[in-house]
Amino acid sequence: MKEQIEAIKQKSIGEIANAKDLKELNDLRVQYLGKKGELTSVLRGMGALSPEERPIIGSLVNSVKDELEALISEKEEAFKQEELNKKLESETIDITLPSKKVKRGSKHPLNRTIEEIEDLFVSMGYDVVEGPELETDEYCFERLNLPEGHPARDMQDSFYITDSYLLRTQTSAVQAREMLRKGGNEPIRMICVGKTYRREDDATHSHQFNQVEGLVIDKKENNVSLADLKGTLEVFMKKMLGENTELRFRPSYFPFTEPSYEVDVTCFNCGGKGCPLCKKTGWIELLGSGIVHPNVLKMNGYDPDVYGGFAFGTGIDRLAMFKYGITDMRYLYTNDVRFLEQFDRKD
Ligand code: DAH
Repeated sequence: MKEQIEAIKQKSIGEIANAKDLKELNDLRVQYLGKKGELTSVLRGMGALSPEERPIIGSLVNSVKDELEALISEKEEAFKQEELNKKLESETIDITLPSKKVKRGSKHPLNRTIEEIEDLFVSMGYDVVEGPELETDEYCFERLNLPEGHPARDMQDSFYITDSYLLRTQTSAVQAREMLRKGGNEPIRMICVGKTYRREDDATHSHQFNQVEGLVIDKKENNVSLADLKGTLEVFMKKMLGENTELRFRPSYFPFTEPSYEVDVTCFNCGGKGCPLCKKTGWIELLGSGIVHPNVLKMNGYDPDVYGGFAFGTGIDRLAMFKYGITDMRYLYTNDVRFLEQFDRKD
């Protein structure tokens, strides 16, 4: 029996060494070590042995079994490793290939302008406040000294939603809101930046545009005067359009200010010499402003004998157009990336 076991061992060692793949190895495992395998059937014949011989043969079979199992496992591991190497070789990734470019967006010129304005006024101690775009007739007109039927309403072609609701035509509406919010006994120093709407559409007007509104109210004893308004607007315009910009105040009319001024700036295109853009005048009309009308103070909770101040408002789109040399306002709203990309590094 010993010889028989030795023969099986030698034969199987040779066959395991020659196995070509995992499948062959598995067949050999079944053939020699399986339940009906050659070594197992040797064990079955042990009944014919003497009691002394049995443990000797039993342990011999077991040690051969262990030896074969170890050989098969070793070979199996080698096959698996080989397979992995092949896979790694065929699936190599070239990490030196350039990656796909990440497309970077650019800030819209209007938002650049808005951020610049807000930064400037915050640095001068102003609050930045907001108001609704869908506004009531009351705030957009009535509380600004423009009662129903007032002829100055005709200057602003409006989008009415109902009889009393409209898309705000001016950020001036926020003046009234802020005065009421402050309750009539606190100073105000605010700007409001936001969208406004009017029924107009051409190269210099869009049905939707942006305005910035400024309002400063304080006790009369603190003397917020026309000189402060002038100084503030000078800082504002020089910052936006360049240090050489000069301002000209022309008497004008706005229902919510008295006296009222329209403010012109020297033409950024010709520097004041006169060109087609400024219609040869050297000046461009840019802002509305004035000293807050006593009626407006009264209607919104401030005593005009105790409080006073100034207000101003201007279109941001026009400012951005001047700042960046944009010739048609509608470019600002068409979302053409070729247009927008040009402002990437302009400031
Ligand atoms: N709201 C005016 C407009 O849209 C501009 C304006 C004029 C604003 C005078 C003001 C102001 O605050 O005092 O035409």
